[in-house]
Amino acid sequence: MGKVYVCDHPLIQHKLTYIREEKTTTKDFRELVDEVATLMAYEITRDIPLEKVQVKTPVAMAECRIISGRMLGLIPILRAGLGMVDGILKLIPAAKVGHVGLYRDPETLQPVEYYLKLPTDVQERLLIVIDPMLATGGSANAAIEALKKRGCTQIKLMCLIAAPEGVQAVQKAHPDVDIYVAAIDDHLNDHGYIIPGLGDAGDRLFGTK
Ligand code: PRP
Ligand code: URA
Repeated sequence: MGKVYVCDHPLIQHKLTYIREEKTTTKDFRELVDEVATLMAYEITRDIPLEKVQVKTPVAMAECRIISGRMLGLIPILRAGLGMVDGILKLIPAAKVGHVGLYRDPETLQPVEYYLKLPTDVQERLLIVIDPMLATGGSANAAIEALKKRGCTQIKLMCLIAAPEGVQAVQKAHPDVDIYVAAIDDHLNDHGYIIPGLGDAGDRLFGTK
């Protein structure tokens, strides 16, 4: 079964509090999501393998370590996943970015795919699927499924807030995928919203309703 890592660093928790707050403006919401994404990128890359290299300092040779040739790919789920991309790229600027367009049918809550564009070498990359709200888990599962269908085998999932229902759904469908989340909330309401959550992540990020 995939592991669940709750990124409970005080800076992440502090910023998440203001992300949740209803009165937070679109501008501040965007900036805070970006900052939390950078901090979470630090956690999600903790186990990336390093290789030894020799470096000549001004006074001697030093045995140092760099991240090995392993390449990363970011796969935001549109729209809300876009809000976390730049924050991650600040730490991993060479990562390629693929996009999965999914929206939840408001009646059935089932994900509907409307766009997919992936890096050509996506199968060789360690992929981070980005879905800020893991509610029923339908969108994350559909995105992971789309990647696996195209031969991808190394996938992690990054979310801001998850419902227990969403975590269980991903663990059941994709036991090989570890989940990184800033908070696991209480439950889903009848409309599939995470409670207490933050409302509609896409709308808050882009100022739409
Ligand atoms: C939201 C959110 C997630 C999805 C989570 O997307 O950004 O992708 O819901 O719900 P699930 O776990 O039940 O599938 P939404 O459909 O609102 O689209 P948007 O990002 O374009 O606003
Ligand atoms: N999508 C959101 O944006 N918010 C939720 O609470 C659930 C799904």
